[in-house]
Amino acid sequence: MTATTPQTPPMLRLEGVCKHFTLHHQNALDLPVFEDVALDVHAGECVVLDGASGLGKSTLLKMVYANYRTSAGRITVQSAAGPVDVTQASPREMVRLRRDTIGYVSQFLRVIPRVSALDVVAEPLAEDAEGAENAPEHLEAAREEARRWLTRLRIPERLWHLPPATFSGGEQQRINIARNMIKPKPLLLLDEPTASLDAANTDTVIALIREATARGAATVGIFHDAEVGAAVATRRVNVGEFRSKA
Ligand SMILES: Nc1ncnc2c1ncn2[C@@H]1O[C@H](COP(=O)(O)OP(=O)(O)O)[C@@H](O)[C@H]1O
Ligand SMILES: [Mg+2]
Repeated sequence: MTATTPQTPPMLRLEGVCKHFTLHHQNALDLPVFEDVALDVHAGECVVLDGASGLGKSTLLKMVYANYRTSAGRITVQSAAGPVDVTQASPREMVRLRRDTIGYVSQFLRVIPRVSALDVVAEPLAEDAEGAENAPEHLEAAREEARRWLTRLRIPERLWHLPPATFSGGEQQRINIARNMIKPKPLLLLDEPTASLDAANTDTVIALIREATARGAATVGIFHDAEVGAAVATRRVNVGEFRSKA
């Protein structure tokens, strides 16, 4: 019986992934980072990337999000429409994948000028109904959900209607988390989401990550704080294993 049970494909699969940087301002100096990365991440797993600073943890997440080009190999993400190799995806495919499938909490918030914190957080939910007849109701529901996230992440109500440009590092980081986790996506990439948070907010983020894992998200995370990594990991991978020997 088990022999015929179809295996669910991993939410994320890296095969033969290589990465090197070419430093054009240094006589095209070649900086090797990864040689042959193989990694599967299934729904409901939270894989924590370990390894010293500079080993390539952030680079790995940026390749999955297609912010960085992959030098060789395949990175397959399961979208609702089927598997997509992000190393070959068109810009349009990447937009769709980022909207519906991959959540990415980067280390820093990319501030959108003049947009209030509330709408920065609500936008990923609100945009699903843009142009639709029920858009006004949808926007209000998205804002209501954004208020819940802002409250949970302890952003004082007096800040909700201000653009986050002047917020503190920790406040911006929490806006970034709320914006990128509010829409429940099946793949979550987290790059040091708790780096500038106090203990209470760190605990909240740990709870949010566990809730995402419990609903079946596949997560890959980098955590500066070993205790946070230990609290959320279902598996740990040391990226040192994948380093180029050159
Ligand atoms: N855009 C880039 N151009 C050139 N080198 C880079 C770039 N981004 C990262 N690197 C280099 O790749 C290596 C891995 O960096 P990174 O992924 O940020 O490490 P980690 O997140 O593990 O601290 C470092 O040597 C870093 O200097
Ligand atoms: Mg990093």
